[in-house]
Amino acid sequence: MESIRDKNVLIVGATGGIGAETARLLKQSGANLFLTARNEEKLNNLATELNVSSDQCFVVDVRKFEDVSIAASSIHQKVSSIDILINATGVGIIKPMEALTEADFMESLQVNLVGAFYLMKCFLEPMKAKKTGLIINLPGVLGKTPMAGAAAYSASKYGLNGMMKSIREELKRTDIRITNIFLGGTDTPFWDTIDLRVQKDKFVRAEEAAKSIWFLCQQPSSGVVSEMVLQPFNHQAI
Ligand SMILES: NC(=O)c1ccc[n+]([C@@H]2O[C@H](COP(=O)([O-])OP(=O)(O)OC[C@H]3O[C@@H](n4cnc5c(N)ncnc54)[C@H](OP(=O)(O)O)[C@@H]3O)[C@@H](O)[C@H]2O)c1
Repeated sequence: MESIRDKNVLIVGATGGIGAETARLLKQSGANLFLTARNEEKLNNLATELNVSSDQCFVVDVRKFEDVSIAASSIHQKVSSIDILINATGVGIIKPMEALTEADFMESLQVNLVGAFYLMKCFLEPMKAKKTGLIINLPGVLGKTPMAGAAAYSASKYGLNGMMKSIREELKRTDIRITNIFLGGTDTPFWDTIDLRVQKDKFVRAEEAAKSIWFLCQQPSSGVVSEMVLQPFNHQAI
């Protein structure tokens, strides 16, 4: 296993269910954390809990290129490049087509796909200059398999999966590794606004999902785990 100690790790969407648990595990392992989230209060609370300096925390709405770019410039003044970038942002709008609005569709694409594109535009070049890095995204099983009501969500997550796989093709002469994680239902606040009857007690726990990310961060760099699948035992969709 590779040590995480002193690695420069950026968690985008650090205040979410999976992002926060991942931050806790990586901090325990000695990572030098950079945290971003949209909600300043939640970000400050997490930073205080984990003793992350306020100059390593950034309020970022990933829908805004300027937010991502300002955070990236500040981070790159401190470190030449991020060693590990974990994109844990996401919005889940699950509705049948008759209820799905254009605004729902655009919001899904803006957060889940365009936000990831902005992250790549701002963090990839320094990684390429250093010829090393690990980028983890969370397309989820709905980035690979369909579900009724998931037209907008799946459009964004299939897009994310395809974008990252295409970027991977450009990076084969570098040591930059890209991992897409395909999680099934995971018990986080993600589900709070989704109008579906789900069995949360059967879901993957956020801590378990975070452990899979923590595990990926420690993989030796001679190979790459390009995909990881973690699903509830009773609902294995892929
Ligand atoms: N939970 C699941 O069942 C599941 C399954 C498969 C894949 N995933 C994926 O895993 C990732 C993490 O999900 P989660 O379960 O941890 O969800 P979550 O608890 O709802 O957290 C989502 C995170 O995304 C952030 N976010 C939302 N919109 C944003 C924006 N415009 N700009 C910046 N940050 C924004 C939220 O920040 P604020 O609180 O500040 O808005 C929060 O930190 C997502 O990509 C999700 O699609 C989740």
